Amino acid sequence: MAEVRIVSSPAEGGALVADHIAARVTANPDFTLGVATGSTPLPVYAALRERAAAGTDFSRMSAFALDEYVGIPVDHPESYHSVIDREVTQPLGLVPTRVHVPDGSIDGIQTAGERYERSMVDHGGVDLQLLGIGTTGHLGFNEPGSSFASLTRVKTLTEQTRLDNTRFFSSLDEVPIHCVTQGLGTILRARHLVLLAFGAGKADALAAAVEGPLTASMPGSAIQLHAHVTVVVDEAAASKLKHDAYYRWAQSNSPDWQQL
Ligand code: F6R
Repeated sequence: MAEVRIVSSPAEGGALVADHIAARVTANPDFTLGVATGSTPLPVYAALRERAAAGTDFSRMSAFALDEYVGIPVDHPESYHSVIDREVTQPLGLVPTRVHVPDGSIDGIQTAGERYERSMVDHGGVDLQLLGIGTTGHLGFNEPGSSFASLTRVKTLTEQTRLDNTRFFSSLDEVPIHCVTQGLGTILRARHLVLLAFGAGKADALAAAVEGPLTASMPGSAIQLHAHVTVVVDEAAASKLKHDAYYRWAQSNSPDWQQL
């Protein structure tokens, strides 16, 4: 079962996760972080920037992004290349060649998934993967029906996901229809998964992912197949969890030696 940590705010969740990442990077400067985009991980990145300002050296860390839109220029402000560069690479002082994002250009799209898989495997994998969850239950952009064994490939976004992401663009028409995303099988190879969810809009998907049946119809439920998962949620996102009393009990009895 995932370790569920219920926090009072996204900022508290971000600080909790950032403290853990900073400690891991200090112990192993060549740490590899799996980075997500969207709104959810922003408090983690904000807290990591504070750790960098306070002296944590992230310069040898590598990063692999979960996904990228197909067909928008890499320098578009909402391409995930741009978002990761803005939120993570520049402010944390990472070396750009150590930061990897799937190639969403039409030219070469046929091999984009395979090339990304190879770069991850050659690198030695991801130590900690940050994840958000979509209202459809997607992890990365693995929409309902995605195989638990899937690898990085092109997927079609659901209309719901496009609507959810319209806020980053000027209209729904501008939101790409296709993406290149790590598969659920790719995500499950990371050594530690940290799934974050904030707000009531995520409560149904989060409860189904953490406590519901294991099914490709709820891609988030794939986390139940992983041996080391930490779920960090605020009260609103935790509101549909059936075992929340147990999670709170475990949390209040968490010994000092217990890591995230
Ligand atoms: C982002 C990603 C998605 C988002 C999810 C939640 O790289 O792969 O799975 O994590 O769509 O998005 P937000 O955080 O914007 O609610």
